[in-house]
Amino acid sequence: MSLIELAGVRKTYDTGQIQVDALRGVDARIEEGEYVAVTGPSGSGKSTLMHILGCLDVPTSGSYHLAGEDVSLLSEARLAEVRNRRIGFVFQQFNLLPSLKAWRNVELPLLYAGVPRQVRRERALAALDKVGLGDRAEHRPGELSGGQQQRVAVARALVTDPAMILADEPTGNLDSASTHEVLGLLDELSALGRTIVLITHEHDVAERAGRTIAVRDGEITT
Ligand SMILES: Nc1ncnc2c1ncn2[C@@H]1O[C@H](COP(=O)(O)OP(=O)(O)O)[C@@H](O)[C@H]1O
Ligand SMILES: [Mg+2]
Repeated sequence: MSLIELAGVRKTYDTGQIQVDALRGVDARIEEGEYVAVTGPSGSGKSTLMHILGCLDVPTSGSYHLAGEDVSLLSEARLAEVRNRRIGFVFQQFNLLPSLKAWRNVELPLLYAGVPRQVRRERALAALDKVGLGDRAEHRPGELSGGQQQRVAVARALVTDPAMILADEPTGNLDSASTHEVLGLLDELSALGRTIVLITHEHDVAERAGRTIAVRDGEITT
């Protein structure tokens, strides 16, 4: 059984006047421990695919099995649970709360999961250690570089020990030094066996992954 199995996944956005076929029959498998890059030009459907893989949205038709469970059939409440327990998200715009110290940002997924306060703090600090920011736990995002902020976001993604890290253009807002820092961290996590799906339109970023899935006009071409 693969960690991820997509079969005939279609996604149509219905905006009232027009319908956009963002995904037009996608079949894909991703194994546990794989590091996969999803590439494609702007508008090809990468983010739509990420939203479906991340259980932020469901297919219009087709099936999505995550760790054997058919998530295309789940209620919104169950989807939220799967999202929280199984998936760690990293976005282009970090999505950190500026008023919260680094460790407070990192503990948030555990707060939503109802983990007790002391355990939350311990696990948040351990996750910050893993991304090399153990000494920045009390800093707020504004006091950190872009690369460090994205590493805090990776720590937040890791804190629930998810089955998969899903990163959508995680280096899109970073300079080359910070890009190097974040990609190096993803390499390390991959070497430790973490499943990573990285979405990017940049070839040199995609090259870090073990395999590439190319999307074009809502279809997979490799
Ligand atoms: N919420 C939405 N409503 C309507 N159309 C959308 C929505 N999100 C994306 N689209 C359209 O779906 C297509 C794929 O978009 P997207 O998945 O964001 O591509 P990418 O991430 O590769 O740039 C595009 O034509 C886009 O305009
Ligand atoms: Mg996108």
